[in-house]
Amino acid sequence: MGAKKILVVEDDEVFRNTIGELLGKKYEVAQAPNGKSACELMSVQDYDLVLSDIQMPNMTGIDLLEWSAKHRPMPFIIMTGFSTLLETKSAYELGAKGFIAKPFKISQLLDLIPSIIGEEKKVVPEKKPADAYYKVSIEEFIAKPNIDFDIFIKLSETNFIKVANKSEQLPKEQIAKYKDRGIKHFYIEKEDFGKLVQFNLGLVKIMKGRSEIANDKKTSFMNYTGKVILERTFTDGVDQDSIQEASAFLKMAVETATESEDSFDLLTLLNSYSDAVYANSVAISFCSVMLAKTLGVTSMQTLFKVSMAGMFHDIGKKEIDSELLKRPRHLTTRAEQKEIESHVVRGHDILLGIKSLHSDVVRMAYEHHEDQAGLGYPNSKAARDQHPLSKILQAAVLFVEYTDTLRQSGQPITAAAVIANLQQLYEKRIDPLCLAALKKIYGVKT
Ligand SMILES: [Fe+2]
Repeated sequence: MGAKKILVVEDDEVFRNTIGELLGKKYEVAQAPNGKSACELMSVQDYDLVLSDIQMPNMTGIDLLEWSAKHRPMPFIIMTGFSTLLETKSAYELGAKGFIAKPFKISQLLDLIPSIIGEEKKVVPEKKPADAYYKVSIEEFIAKPNIDFDIFIKLSETNFIKVANKSEQLPKEQIAKYKDRGIKHFYIEKEDFGKLVQFNLGLVKIMKGRSEIANDKKTSFMNYTGKVILERTFTDGVDQDSIQEASAFLKMAVETATESEDSFDLLTLLNSYSDAVYANSVAISFCSVMLAKTLGVTSMQTLFKVSMAGMFHDIGKKEIDSELLKRPRHLTTRAEQKEIESHVVRGHDILLGIKSLHSDVVRMAYEHHEDQAGLGYPNSKAARDQHPLSKILQAAVLFVEYTDTLRQSGQPITAAAVIANLQQLYEKRIDPLCLAALKKIYGVKT
């Protein structure tokens, strides 16, 4: 049997010749400088593989793939790049068999080809499960000269493909274009995630000291960084690393929250993402710190404890079905409500396992759904038996969650409206000093 036939379709002559030459050592290679000549060649010859660029003048790689699917079906490997992210999705939908992100090493290509053309494979690139990636919001993604990680896009539940390599440049304009076209997320591999967190933490630090950066930009980015850290904690569990990241983040967050004047704007902004169960935690952490400050707490150590408890109080939710957590309360059965409420005890077990967490933080988290009337859960504990700082967290939880409820119902949200509702609904259950502090923070008179 003769060598397998590969057609290389690429408009960049130097690149095409280089690939042609290198693949030529093992395969019978033909070259086409554009889609049209590729069609002509493919009309008279079957190829075991077509290796095609996407961006080419007149007829793109996608057009060629579409033509091939209709007239002369052959296996395709598409050469992707960050600039062709959207087209890559189409290529997948049109049935391309493989993808390789430019720039690539010839060895990567040689590893990929056998799996597509059915040769004996030496190295099969292992397909990673969906949970090997972290979702990164494109909205908050900040381009920098060289990225430290590979970037993937999600094509289906189990299929992720690389569109940009480490050290590649991601132009801001390109990112803006994707945003305009409705691309919401990038994916990066878990092992690279720490770098992104570190990078964002560094940025938060720089932004904090820069007065020319608008407060909403700062807080929005800070919120994003907080959520990114929490997301990792929720999916991977809490370990020393995640606690360290959270600590570094919260130290900065505490300072910002205590410096900020427009705290309600900050909160609504923090709270404006409700797609994740843990999204509230960053807002609750900020709110707790503001409350504590207003109540006269000045010790940084105590403020830090409060912020940590705000951040991790709902960690037990990671063990509960997310569909159930999202369901409106009136559509849940009593048993399901019990299941949701179990997040407190589950969270307590998780947090107890972390040695570096101060016991006050664990206790506050455990008591975050108790209340001042002794009607809360899990223990209906009397107010006098609760940690004094727990009252702050309880008030912050009610305030942030109620703000979120109002927001979701489409009503205009003002701090005064939230406080008025809280007062009406929870007057006996919320600590009066905390309620007064909320009023003071937001300038509510009554
Ligand atoms: Fe909770």
